[in-house]
Amino acid sequence: MDLSVDLGVRLRNPTILASGILGVSLETLKRVYESGAGAVVSKSVGLEPNPGYENPTVVEVDCGYLNAIGLANPGVDSFSEELAKVDIPLFVSLYSRSAEGFRELVRRLEGFKVLGFELNLSCPHVKGVGLEVGSDPDAVYEIVRECKRETGKPIFVKLSPTVGVVEVAESCKRAGADAVVLANTFRGMAIDVESMKPILSNGFGGLSGPAIRPMVLALVYEVYEKVEIPIIASGGVVKWEDMVEYILAGARAVEIGTGIAYRGLGIFKELLSGLEEYMRRKGFERVEELVGLAHE
Ligand SMILES: Cc1cc2nc3c(=O)[nH]c(=O)nc-3n(C[C@H](O)[C@H](O)[C@H](O)COP(=O)(O)O)c2cc1C
Repeated sequence: MDLSVDLGVRLRNPTILASGILGVSLETLKRVYESGAGAVVSKSVGLEPNPGYENPTVVEVDCGYLNAIGLANPGVDSFSEELAKVDIPLFVSLYSRSAEGFRELVRRLEGFKVLGFELNLSCPHVKGVGLEVGSDPDAVYEIVRECKRETGKPIFVKLSPTVGVVEVAESCKRAGADAVVLANTFRGMAIDVESMKPILSNGFGGLSGPAIRPMVLALVYEVYEKVEIPIIASGGVVKWEDMVEYILAGARAVEIGTGIAYRGLGIFKELLSGLEEYMRRKGFERVEELVGLAHE
């Protein structure tokens, strides 16, 4: 049975660790790969170190988590020291305020043995990066084109679920992106009724987990119909059926984030054995044959 998928490079299977869930330590990312993931994505790194927001930065809510980490990261130079040891299929997630900033990040990391890059154009709770940049199709075009000039490696673009995804995905395609990731978290909030104040130090956060899955599924389905670009789904995958739903809607791969908090690292093996069993039952040999079948 062939579980491999093509995303500008071939991954051994369609499961990918989502950005930010287990940080930037290569040792941890390696453990995820050894647990079965087809590839891993690092936490988003920027040009400068960033302490992020004060605690609390994560709170569990019904059917998911709200987080406002504030893009905390050690900065690209410090992260490069980790990268010198890389020997797994790793995509580095990048964030910046400008196309030049993104290009500079790619330039500094291009020489390492990373498989490719994921551009985070969609953080819902940090001003000046993410949503502001990621909702403008022309700005997105410029960013992707600049990065493509700097590298021949695959570039994924992670979009916000609340912008016009079809238009932005179209820009990504024109600029030569290898895939779009649908999607980042939805903006949300939780209030502590005793203290009568928002729980997260930043007030607003990003909602992840099963709560967002049906909404992201609709985005995947729509982009698959309207834009010819590989799609990676991200949002609420916990069970193998969730992954299969996304693949049938048109995703070639899925990223797993909150699912790890629910199921531990064993989630990758659980998803893959569920997928294999399903393919056997339905008579499919290659997972890529399933992509988009819900449309026919
Ligand atoms: C604690 C936490 C930190 C995250 N950090 C990042 C990040 O640095 N960059 C990014 O692109 N997405 C980040 N995300 C979003 C996830 O990569 C993922 O897209 C989102 O959580 C939806 O998937 P899920 O429902 O499987 O968690 C973060 C999510 C969580 C819960």
